[in-house]
Formats: sequence, structure tokens, C-alpha cells
Amino acid sequence: MSKEDIYILGIESSCDDTAAAILKNDEVLSNCIANQEIHKKYGGVVPELASRAHLSNIIPVVSKALDEANINPEMLSAIAFTKGPGLIGSLLVGTEFSKALGLSLNIPVIGVNHMQAHLLVHYIKSNKKSPDFPFLGVTISGGHTQFVIVEDYLKMEIIGETLDDAIGEAFDKCGKIIGLDYPAGPEIDKLAKEGDSEKFDFPIPNVQGFNVSYSGTKTAFMNFINNSKLKDPAFIQKNKIDICASIQKNLIDNLILKVKYISKEKSLNRIVIGGGVSANSFLKDSLELNSKENNWEVFIPPLFYTTDNAAMIGIVGYLKYIKGMFSDYNTIASPRLAFK
Ligand code: KG4
Ligand code: ZN
Repeated sequence: MSKEDIYILGIESSCDDTAAAILKNDEVLSNCIANQEIHKKYGGVVPELASRAHLSNIIPVVSKALDEANINPEMLSAIAFTKGPGLIGSLLVGTEFSKALGLSLNIPVIGVNHMQAHLLVHYIKSNKKSPDFPFLGVTISGGHTQFVIVEDYLKMEIIGETLDDAIGEAFDKCGKIIGLDYPAGPEIDKLAKEGDSEKFDFPIPNVQGFNVSYSGTKTAFMNFINNSKLKDPAFIQKNKIDICASIQKNLIDNLILKVKYISKEKSLNRIVIGGGVSANSFLKDSLELNSKENNWEVFIPPLFYTTDNAAMIGIVGYLKYIKGMFSDYNTIASPRLAFK
């Protein structure tokens, strides 16, 4: 351990995953996660159940992260935690736990914006090139769909976002309509691989400027499925893979159209993706095609950093630590935290 090495404990608890990671500078030593299976049976995250599960998971997950990294709590330089945005009850568990542990170890705490972390995950040390600045950041998750101009690590501006549902939410809601478990995104992706994406056509809302919309597509999808079921009760069963491929194509095409437009308007050819939906294979193929056609330089996180994780909170903690950007011990969870 060199004297200058910085050890950060990252904690993520914004939604339904309790996660902890240890970073040595920009390098991940451990990255642990406790998924909450309980929500599956309700078809979506139940906030009260999520915060209770965080309470029982947080100490075991943090202990596991320390053990796997072979680190004593006394070696930690700081604790970085998700301050927001997210579910208030879930955020409270991570925030208050971090403050208590920080106080007892007498080390600083660092509040992190979850959506910034989805983009800055690209600066974790790896054998791949990290994005240069500036770039167009695209955060696509269950709670957000945002287009962000990123000038520097912590200098970001949201220029567009969804007017209603997030893209991940659209995947999950459409999946629920055809009987898939929550979260349905990964299952739609899997089933779509065998299906015909041209078989069913759904509208793409025409939204001016840099925003997008997904709720109209979801309603059109629901009406289509209900009408088709009236004609043939076995419609979903007979057409599941084609339905998945077609709705997936629609949701991703909607996003890509907007990225193309913003990239042109803002003259930004460097496109950086983050958030759970960046795991989608049709999106990856579509981005690859566009990188050839439009000369884009595209950055997609490795699969294990796409969905919520604590390593992404840890890397922002490290970047803030070296700039001396610490939070007070009286900082509070902020469900609608803005970019700062
Ligand atoms: O970033 P994340 O883990 O949590 C939030 O901050 O919301 O994103 C979760 C979202 C869910 O909506 C899930 O269905 C979606 O990411 N997702 C996917 C895929 N993997 C996860 N959507 C489409 N295709 C995937 N392969
Ligand atoms: Zn997320």
C-alpha cells in the first residue's frame, strides 16, 4: 500500500439492488451486489419492501466487499454513496449507513449522483480506452432516459430527456403486458434474438427537439396485444419472439433516431452509453452500424457495469476525492438530485 493510494468504499442503494465495492484509486478491487428477488412477484419494485431489504443486506454486502478486496475498514480513505436520484426509502439506507460508518472511522463521505455514475463508469481502470471529452452521454435505465453534454468528469448538462416513461420502464411495462417477469428488458432481449423484428409495426412518437417519449408506444402496444388476444386467445404464445423483436426494435430505433439528431445538432460524434438498457444487444448492433455510417466513436460499458452497481459510485467517489469534493456529515438523501 503506497501512501498516496486512495481506498474508496462505494455504496449503491437507489432502487432495488444493494451494492458495495472497493476501489484502489481508479481500480476496482471488489464489486458485490445483493439483488432483491422479492419484487418479481409484484411485477415491479415495491419501495417499502426495497428499503427493508436494503436494511438487511447492507452490512453483509459491505463486509463481503471489504473481505474480497482484502481491506480493513481502517484503510479506507472515504465512503462514496448514492445521494440521489432514486427511491427515498432506499437512498436513506445507503446515505445514513455511509454517514454513520464515515463518522465512526473519521473519514470523509462523498455524495454521488447515480446518473452521473452511469456515465463515469467508463473511467474505471481497464484495458480499454476511456472516452475523451467532450461527448454526448446517453443514460438509459429503468428510471431515466437522458441526453447529456459532458465537458469534463463532473461538468455535465442534461439537454434532453424522456417526457414520460424511461426506455427501461417501457421495456418492463411492455414485457408485463405479455406476461414476462420484472425486469423484462433482459428477457425481451433474449427472446427477440430468435424473432422477426419487422413482423409488427408500432408508432414512434414525433417529439420535437432533444426530448423523447415512450408512453404512447406502450399504450399502442397494449391496445395491439389486447385486440390481437380478442381475435386469438393464444396470440402471445404463438408470436412471443416476434412481438419481442418488434417492440425492442421500436424502442431502440426511437432512441437511436434522437441520438442521431442530437449528435448532428451538437456536432458531437463521441457517444457514451450508460445504464441498464446499455446491456441490450439490438442497441449494441444498432450503435455499431451507426458508428460506421455516421463516423461515431461509441463507448458501451462492459455488461457487469451496465445495470446498477457500486463500482460506478466508487469511481465518482475517487474523482471527487482527488478534487476535495466532500459532503457534510449532515448531507441528506435527495430523490430528485440534479446534476452537480
Ligand atoms: O440502471 P438500472 O440497473 O437501474 C436503474 O437505475 O433503473 O436499469 C434497469 C433497467 C430495467 O428497466 C431493465 O429492464 C433494463 O435496465 N435492462 C434491459 C436489459 N438489461 C437490463 N433492457 C433491455 N435489454 C437488456 N438486455
Ligand atoms: Zn441505474
